[in-house]
Amino acid sequence: MLFSGFVAVLMATVVSAHSIISYPGWRGNNLITNETFPYGMQWVYPCGGIGTTTNRTYWPTTGGAVAFQPGWFRGHETAFVHINLGFGTDGPDNGPVDMSNPMLPAIQLLGPTNGPYPGTVCFPQVPLPKNANVKAGDKATIQVVELAVHGAALYSCVDIEFAEPGDEKIEQVTEDNCFNSTELGFAELYTIATVNPRTGKRFDEDNAAAGRSAALGSLPLLMLLGWALL
Ligand SMILES: *[C@@H]1O[C@H](CO)[C@@H](O)[C@H](O)[C@H]1NC(C)=O
Ligand SMILES: *[C@@H]1O[C@H](CO)[C@@H](O)[C@H](O)[C@H]1NC(C)=O
Ligand SMILES: *[C@@H]1O[C@H](CO)[C@@H](O)[C@H](O)[C@H]1NC(C)=O
Repeated sequence: MLFSGFVAVLMATVVSAHSIISYPGWRGNNLITNETFPYGMQWVYPCGGIGTTTNRTYWPTTGGAVAFQPGWFRGHETAFVHINLGFGTDGPDNGPVDMSNPMLPAIQLLGPTNGPYPGTVCFPQVPLPKNANVKAGDKATIQVVELAVHGAALYSCVDIEFAEPGDEKIEQVTEDNCFNSTELGFAELYTIATVNPRTGKRFDEDNAAAGRSAALGSLPLLMLLGWALL
């Protein structure tokens, strides 16, 4: 009894360790490198080599949790993560027409090493993209994009059907399926503008000139701050 219980727990661990999107689910195992995908499935846009699935998982119409395991490939000591949504089933292979609706601003993830590492990241309340208007029963696809240090991107998706928040078809979000591993860190992403596109001069040179007038000097800085928010 005890032993089989142990094996069951072990199996569960092994199985869940293969889910790249661990909540609300994923299209399937795309951690595969073979003749069809000589560089590995996950590098294939838009969903890591797996077509739209019919076993959709339910997700709230008001947005909800997204958890994933970012460290399965080399090259992720730092990674930029994007979470996007594609609406409907009118696109290629009965998936969304496009996957270009960001749900969160890009996040920078700081991993422990450049080799594969364990760890889970969870965003408990990922909102719908701006101006989204969905109702229970609508279909969509959540895409998690991870940009590796060398600039290439890994893709994973989960096909969802929206349900009213609190609907029991939606898997409960708990501390077991939505947590941040302590070995992972985060950084916010912002733009540091170095060259003014209008003058072609470096901003520090511009600022030195503008610095002669203290009032003017703070103007470029304010603009920089504005851009930083992008
Ligand atoms: C859908 O089925 C595939 C293949 O069995 C499985 O790998 C995947 O986890 C399932 N997805 C969901 C959201 O249940
Ligand atoms: C490679 O793996 C994918 C996913 O399992 C599969 O669809 C494909 O047929 C495989 N290719 C070869 C040559 O085995
Ligand atoms: C994990 O960390 C991110 C980034 O700081 C944060 O937004 C998120 O809420 C955290 N998740 C949990 C479950 O605390």
